[in-house]
This record gives sequence, C-alpha cells and structure tokens, in this order.
Amino acid sequence: MNRVPTMIKTTNMENYTRGFSSNIGAILAAAGGAVGLGNIWRFPYMLGQNGGGAFLLVYVFFVILIGVPLMMTEFIIGRRAQSNVVGAYRKLSHGNKGWITLGIFGIVAAFLIYAFYSVVAGWTLNYIVLSCRGHLSGKEPEAITQLFQSFTQDSFWPLLYQGLFLILTGSVIVMGVQKGIEKVSKILMPILFILLILMSVRSLTLGAGAKEGLAFLFNPDFSKLTGSSILAALGQSFFSLSIGMGAMVTYGSYIRKEDKLFNTSLWIAGCDSLVAILAGIVIFPAVFAFGMNPASGPELVYIVLPNVFNSMPAGTLFAIIFFLLLGIAALTSTISLLEILVAFGVEEFHWKRGVASFFSTLLVFLIGAFCNLSFGPLKDATLFGKTIFDLFDLITASYLMPIGALLMTIFLGWFFPKVEVKDELSNSGTLKVKAFELYYFILRFVSPIALLIIIISGIIG
Ligand code: PHE
Repeated sequence: MNRVPTMIKTTNMENYTRGFSSNIGAILAAAGGAVGLGNIWRFPYMLGQNGGGAFLLVYVFFVILIGVPLMMTEFIIGRRAQSNVVGAYRKLSHGNKGWITLGIFGIVAAFLIYAFYSVVAGWTLNYIVLSCRGHLSGKEPEAITQLFQSFTQDSFWPLLYQGLFLILTGSVIVMGVQKGIEKVSKILMPILFILLILMSVRSLTLGAGAKEGLAFLFNPDFSKLTGSSILAALGQSFFSLSIGMGAMVTYGSYIRKEDKLFNTSLWIAGCDSLVAILAGIVIFPAVFAFGMNPASGPELVYIVLPNVFNSMPAGTLFAIIFFLLLGIAALTSTISLLEILVAFGVEEFHWKRGVASFFSTLLVFLIGAFCNLSFGPLKDATLFGKTIFDLFDLITASYLMPIGALLMTIFLGWFFPKVEVKDELSNSGTLKVKAFELYYFILRFVSPIALLIIIISGIIG
C-alpha cells in the first residue's frame, strides 16, 4: 500500500515533495513550530508580570477555547488547498483579490516575525557558547547584567550570531519538507523534552524555594488578574501557537489526507502548553530558591537565570543544558517561519528551494539587522517611544496575528461553504466529527468576537 498518498511531484519543483510522511512527523514538526522562545523566554516573564497561577489558568482556557479551533481552521485551509498561504487563499476563494491579500499579509507577518525573532535566537547561540566556555560562572550579578548589556549593544557579535542562526535554519529548509523539517523535528523535539524534564527535576529538588515557586505558578490568586493580564494571556496563546499568519496553513498543507485534524491540533496545543508549564517549573522554583525577582521581564532568562545557575552546584552544566534547549526550541520555530516564505517562493514563482531559501534568508537578515542594532547603535531610532525591535514585536504579535486570525475566521466561517469545511475536517466523510457544530459555532462567533476585543483593546491602549 502506498504509505504517502498525498505526495505530489511536480516537474518545476524538482525534488519538492509535498507533505509529511507520517502523522507523528506532522505533530512533531508543527509542535516544533509552536514551541519556541514564546514558551521558554516569553511565557515565564509574562506569567511573572501578570500574577502567576491565575494567568496560567486563563492562558490554558484560551488555548483550549480559541487556540485549538483556530489551529484546526488553519489546517483545514492549508490541507484543503494543498498550497502555501497565498496559493491557499487564491485557490479556496477562486481568485478573489481581497482574500489573496490576506495570504500576502501572512507572508509579510512571517518576514517581520522572523526578523526580530532571529535576533533573540542569535542570543541563545551566544549564551550556549558562553556557558560552554564557563564564562557565565563565578560572576557577580552586576557582571552578568553587564555582560548581557554589552553583548546586545554591540554592533558586530549579535549580528554574527543572528546570521549564523539564519544560515542554520536555511540549511534545514533546503533539505526539504520530509528530509529537512520532519527529520530534524523528529530528532530535536524528543531531545527538547528530555532536557526540559532534566531541568525541571533539578529545579524541583532545590528545597524551600521549589515550593514557593510552584505555589507562584499553580496557586491562582484571582485578585491579581486585571483586564490587561487577561488580554496578555490571550495574546500569548496566539503567539505561542503560531496562529494567524500562515505558519499552520503551510504546515497544514503537508498533513496527510488520512490524518485527523482535530487530534493533531490537540496534540500540538497539548505539547505547546506542556512545554510552557515545564518552563515555568524550571524557572520559578529556581528564581524563588535564590531570592530573585519573578517579575523581572524579558531579561528573566538571560540575566536572572545565569545568576541562579551560578548559585547551584554543577551550575555550568545546567546553564549549558538550558541554553541548548532554548536554542533547539528557537530553531524548530525559525524553521517554520522560513518554510512559509520558501513554500511561497517555490509554488508561486517556481523558484528552486535553494534559491527561495537564499533570498528569503538574505532579505530577513537585511531587515533583521535593524531590529538587532536597535539594542545598540540604533537604540535612539524610536517611534512612539518604541525601538525598531519592540515595534516589530508589537506590530506582529498584537496586530498582524490577531487581525490575520480574525480575517481567517471570517473567510472560513462566513465565505467558505460549510459542507466543504465539514468534508475536510471529516476526511471526506470517513470520520465522525461529533463536535462539528460546536467547532463551527466557535469559528463563526466566539473566535471573531474574542479577536475583535483583543484588537480593539490593543488599539485603545
Ligand atoms: N510560536 C513561536 C513561539 O512560541 C513563535 C512563532 C510565531 C513561530 C509565529 C512561528 C510563527 O516561540
């Protein structure tokens, strides 16, 4: 029996084989795209700043109620169309220019996210090197802060590391969907889980602080929950699941026709939340055990944690493990970002995979360099008081992704025929989709309203 029925070979796409070879491959690749700096770097500091346990509960609620249905929506669009994000909207809307623009919107968002995301991804490479060389150990807290600041403000090293990270990502993408993305995800994702579990055990055995840290993470104190922290939880669930800009449309187009989209989405969202929670279990007990501030913001991982590692036995080893896992998480996400662009170049312009990877990477580097230098030479180049890096983060996570997701729900819920949605979700009627009406209700009403609320409150302030 042919094990890969959705494989399509097209002459002008030499060696371009559409599709993952297995369901587990699809789950690991998409979970790799979802799990990233958002889980290990952004989630803990957001939770730290927004009151701990109550934030976690709201976050998980949004992942289940909105995250999973929206991920299924992207998969339905991608798999139905068997195409990159622009091609998908073109095919499914029968060439309607308005909807094609929504696909282009996804491509722009991917460029912008990749541009700033690769800056932080590059930092992880530097921290892997620093920890391997023992340069983080034995330093006073001021020296660690100084190290972070002088590195990020430099105009050479951060660019070099960002460039290296982009090249690393490009070399996986050039190898193709199955031999590159799927294979690398199958190797890296299990390693990521093992390293995370190792780190959690270390953190949980730190004595008194461990209890306090776990209480901070798991005991909800609803009095700390404000309107803005609820919105922060909603935004975080979006960013973390990579929803609203075409990553999951592209990966959805690679899911085999016989795989179950609902189960696949549940697995991916489950892995993504599990990694975020495990990252919390790694970070908060350690932060409390060593009397650090859990609400210290984006530098939590790069300044607070090295101090924590310094105060624990075998700290250098744990620093290496931690930054390695951060780097792995970042890499599987940058792979998904580049794939959106490369699939677009290959399918829409008939470029070779290598050519598409090269030019996308080059363009991202040219734009990303500005984000990178906004920590140093360009730190005074601000708009509304925000640096270029912060603007890219804000524009994509707070506007482009939620707006992209809103328009996507309107497309699939209100313009695309319901029978076709049901047909795709039920694998042409071969599966019973018990909760279809519930899904469809969320798609048409709950998600768009929730999204409108995030977008409007983001605009107001
Ligand atoms: N979900 C990724 C993370 O949590 C970020 C990302 C967003 C990746 C959008 C791809 C597309 O780090």
